[in-house]
Amino acid sequence: MSDSGHRTILVSGGAGFIGSAFVMQMLATNTNLRIINVDALTYAGNLENLQAIENDPRHVFIHAEIQNTELMHSLCEQYAVEGIINIAAESHVDRSIQNANPFIETNIQGTVSLLTVARDMKLKKFVQVSTDEVYGSLDQHSTELFTESTPLAPNSPYSSSKASADMFVRAFHHTHGVPAVITRCSNNYGPRQFPEKLIPLMILNAMESKSLPVYGDGLNVRDWIHVNDHCDAIHRAYEYGIPGEVYNIGSENECNNLHIVRTILSILGKSEDLIQFVKDRPGHDKRYAIDASKAKKELGWKPRITFELGLRETIEWYQDHPEWCEHVLSGEYRDYYSQQYHRER
Ligand code: NAD
Ligand code: TYD
Repeated sequence: MSDSGHRTILVSGGAGFIGSAFVMQMLATNTNLRIINVDALTYAGNLENLQAIENDPRHVFIHAEIQNTELMHSLCEQYAVEGIINIAAESHVDRSIQNANPFIETNIQGTVSLLTVARDMKLKKFVQVSTDEVYGSLDQHSTELFTESTPLAPNSPYSSSKASADMFVRAFHHTHGVPAVITRCSNNYGPRQFPEKLIPLMILNAMESKSLPVYGDGLNVRDWIHVNDHCDAIHRAYEYGIPGEVYNIGSENECNNLHIVRTILSILGKSEDLIQFVKDRPGHDKRYAIDASKAKKELGWKPRITFELGLRETIEWYQDHPEWCEHVLSGEYRDYYSQQYHRER
């Protein structure tokens, strides 16, 4: 407990898609909590995501990189931080294929920086928000699921950097006794997701009647979960997760990309002629699917939002926030976006 009478945790990446949802959900459900939100405000981080809590004194925003170990250490001292939840990352597979270096800097070096602070300050808990992509790819035609004991076999530079970070979390727990847990979640969707990822990109393109670039044959499968269900699992992992353990998080909602794209078009009343098959992503993982029974049993967690309702609400959110869309699609990203868009077969 700090002098202010609050429990204080440091959350990294809290201006991004999952981080902003997490910070807002935590402050809404825990009156006695203060969050030190450290974010570098990369192309994916946006303070507009945090507008709902901009006047909440329990939210302290710090514009910084998690690799700055000295600053992270002094923030933890200054605010009497009890634990860290590491959500910050470079998160997009296609970008990692173009240039892996930022992924090494933030995802690996940044994680080691925060682990070092957790070790030196003997913090009470460390949650590493990882991904199911560290397990590699499942056969498209099998019913096999990723469990926590599935061997790590990352295929993209992004997933390799996340797997590497997971190994450092394991090592800092084993060697230094850092009370760390890892969550590995499947693909998230929901409001405020940067429109480089499948669902928001397709929603925005469909809204503007632009073509929808589907990689390869469109039959790659992902296991979709609403961001708020993921955030609830992260919260529970922080409170109840056993140090040294890994928890898979997923919503039993496997879907191929073409089906997602057709559903979005149908909800928006647009023609399937907008679908454009483009060159496949190099090394494209075929299928992800999660067995989340351990998190359900040990963290008392379960997903609550159905994909049908969650997707409709997500589409409505993008329709209701044209300024947000205009803002995130300006500047540096516009070039990237048109580059991707023209990657035709
Ligand atoms: P995002 O790209 O939307 O947001 C990442 C945030 O991290 C941004 O606000 C960015 O400014 C910040 N950031 C980047 N580098 C930083 C640095 N060096 N220091 C401080 N802040 C920095 O990502 P997201 O989709 O919200 O993903 C968040 C986390 O969840 C990532 O660790 C990702 O691996 C994991 N994850 C994401 C998904 C998904 O489907 N999006 C699924 C499973 C796990
Ligand atoms: P993405 O949202 O980038 O997440 P991830 O690769 O981390 O799973 O992509 C989800 C799926 O959608 C993946 O199979 C690649 C595919 N995809 C497209 O077909 N077209 C696109 O424009 C994008 C961004 C993704």
